[in-house]
Parts: sequence; C-alpha cells; structure tokens
Amino acid sequence: MTLLVTGGAGFIGSALVRRVLADDQQLVVNVDKLTYAADSTSIEEFNGNGRHILCEMDVCNTSALNDVFAEYQPDAVVHLAAESHVDRSLDAPASFISTNVLGTYSLLEVSLEYWAGLDQERQNLFRFIHVSTDEVYGSATPEQMFSGTDPYCPNSPYAASKASADHLVRAWNQSFGLPAITCNSTNNYGPHQYPEKLIPLTIAKALSDEAIPVYGDGKHMRDWIHVDDHVEGLLLALKRGTPGHSYLFGSGQPRCNIDVVNAVCRLLESHAERSSGEAFHSLIRYVTDRPGHDRRYAADSSFARKTLQWQPRISFDTGLERTVLWYLNNPDWWRTTKRNRRGLDRERDSVMVGEAQVQ
Ligand SMILES: NC(=O)c1ccc[n+]([C@@H]2O[C@H](COP(=O)([O-])OP(=O)(O)OC[C@H]3O[C@@H](n4cnc5c(N)ncnc54)[C@H](O)[C@@H]3O)[C@@H](O)[C@H]2O)c1
Repeated sequence: MTLLVTGGAGFIGSALVRRVLADDQQLVVNVDKLTYAADSTSIEEFNGNGRHILCEMDVCNTSALNDVFAEYQPDAVVHLAAESHVDRSLDAPASFISTNVLGTYSLLEVSLEYWAGLDQERQNLFRFIHVSTDEVYGSATPEQMFSGTDPYCPNSPYAASKASADHLVRAWNQSFGLPAITCNSTNNYGPHQYPEKLIPLTIAKALSDEAIPVYGDGKHMRDWIHVDDHVEGLLLALKRGTPGHSYLFGSGQPRCNIDVVNAVCRLLESHAERSSGEAFHSLIRYVTDRPGHDRRYAADSSFARKTLQWQPRISFDTGLERTVLWYLNNPDWWRTTKRNRRGLDRERDSVMVGEAQVQ
C-alpha cells in the first residue's frame, strides 16, 4: 500500500509516518513544504530506506501534486499539512487561508481527478483522510460535549480556515463521490511538538529560566490527547471509517491550562533542577488573554470508539511525564528549534498581568 501523507514532517504527521513505517510494509510519500514547523530530524531515521519519499513542496502547487500522484499512484491520502498555531493566525492569517483552505482545495481537486481515473476495485479501496480539529465547533458551554453533528462556530482565523477546509472535504464527498473522511481531534501533546504550543512552550521556558506565560486566568479547558492515540485513530479511520462521516477523537481527560502548566512544573521539579535552586512554579506569569480565546473544548468521541473500535490508551499523567522526559532528554532538539524561532515571539506573550498561584 502506498500512503500519501501531507505535512508528514510536522508534529502529528511525523508521528504517523514513524508509526506506519515501523509497523507495516507500506510506502509513504511525504508531501511537506518544510515550513518553520517542520522537523525533518523526526523522520530522518527512514532516509534512504526506500519506503519513505520526502517531496519538499507546497500543497497549493497543483501541478507538482499531479506529478506526485502520477508517479507514486497512492492508495490513500492522509492530509495533515496546515498552518496550525492559533496565535500566528491572529498575527498573520494569510498563510492559513492559503495552506489550510486553498491547499486543501488543490489536494481535493488532484485527488478527485486521480481517483476518477482508477479502476473500480482501487476506487472502492481509496480513502482521503482529512485531519482537522475540534476548534471548528467554537467554545463549548460548561455542560456541552461536541459530537460531530454540531454546527460549526469557529472563533479564530485558524479555526475558520480549518472549518472551511472541512466543508470543502464534505462537499467533494457529497458532490463528486470522493471517498473522504474528516477526523476532528482535540489538543495533541507528545514528543517533537514545536515549542510554541502550551506544553512544550512551558517546558522550554522553564528549562531556559524564562517566564512561563499563561493566557488570561488560565482556566481555559482542553481535552488533551496523546499524539500516538490520535495517530491510532487516524489509522483506524483509514481502515474502518465510512466515507462521508466525521470522527471526533478526544481522550476524555480535560484539564485547564493552569493545571497543565502546574503539572509540567511538578514533573520538572522531580526530574530536573533550576540553576537558581528556585521552584519552576515561580516562573509562571498570567499574561493578557488571546482575543477570541475559546473557553472550553469538549469532544464526545463515542462514535469513533463504537464504529472504529478506537480507544485512547495513554492516560494524561503517563503521557505528560513521558513527554517531559523526552524534552529533558533531547535538549538539542528544542533549543535549536527555539533559537530558530527568536524574533517570532509575539508582544502579546510579554504583557504580564500577574503572578500565578503555586499549586
Ligand atoms: N496539534 C494539535 O493539537 C492538533 C489538533 C487537532 C488537529 N490538528 C491538525 O493536525 C494537522 C497537523 O498538526 P500539527 O500539530 O502536526 O502541525 P505542525 O504545525 O506541527 O505541522 C504542520 C506541517 O505541515 C507542513 N506544511 C505547512 N504548510 C504547508 C504547505 N503549504 N504545503 C505542504 N506542507 C505544509 C509544515 O511544514 C509542517 O511539517 C493540522 O492539519 C492541524 O490542523 C492539530
């Protein structure tokens, strides 16, 4: 089987590529533009093994995509390539519209033309898995659980661009029959995540002896899922999912941001030491909230559990400890990445409004 993965040098995409190439006899064609968020070291173990082909290109480039489809004749597509950071979408939304909306459109067009030319048997087996987020539903009320049939209500340019892409994928399935499936997952965490997202940012700031920023009152609630559990869900959607359906993946282990940051600091206290001897918690600072910041995300993944026989296996406490240990054991990885990011920190992060309570 030949799997075409887009964004396979990113955080989730590289976890998927590592998983597929470790377990199966598949060929992975990895289409990635290698933006700031890409980490080619996360997949370099497969360089030259003949089962992983990295194509450095933009998903918006229809003619280059056509060539890749023609050359490698994929049996399925898993589309992860995206601009993925909400803060960046507030500062500079253009690339989000370009990659997330137009890039998805371009991939759908090329996939449809390719799929239409396959013989009946290969057409029946072909799948287009679109990887999206629970952020498309907007903020959940305290009692609400999003189930996949709720109306979309995106509040950030990132969420709006992903919602637009989800609608295009649905339309290409309904109107043209492309066997497409959308997967909406909650916040992912794990190794190799770029240190601009909450958990790796907290670790990197703490280990650099810098203030750890927490937006607003820190009570924004997210349902954290380990990246390996998400990848398992994507592979099951590929194997057992029904075209035209959406699957929500959440771990059912919600935590608010300040609790996550405190948990990271507690783990760092157990496994590392600050040069000053002070507690890592003392670095936590509340900063001005992000505009349009959704208060709560909550995903009901019972449909995926029932129909795909999927279930998350990694508890938040275990997954977080493994993640903290990975960053502690790979200082070169995040220090290099962080250094490359210099100058991109937003002013919003540095507007301190108070010190956090140590918990
Ligand atoms: N990280 C999360 O918590 C989360 C949760 C739910 C859904 N998602 C979705 O999962 C997917 C992957 O997220 P991630 O966290 O791994 O993102 P990431 O930012 O770590 O990686 C994105 C990858 O896409 C590539 N890319 C960006 N623009 C491209 C373009 N124009 N053409 C080709 N490649 C391009 C980048 O080089 C990078 O390798 C995204 O679609 C995201 O919306 C992420």
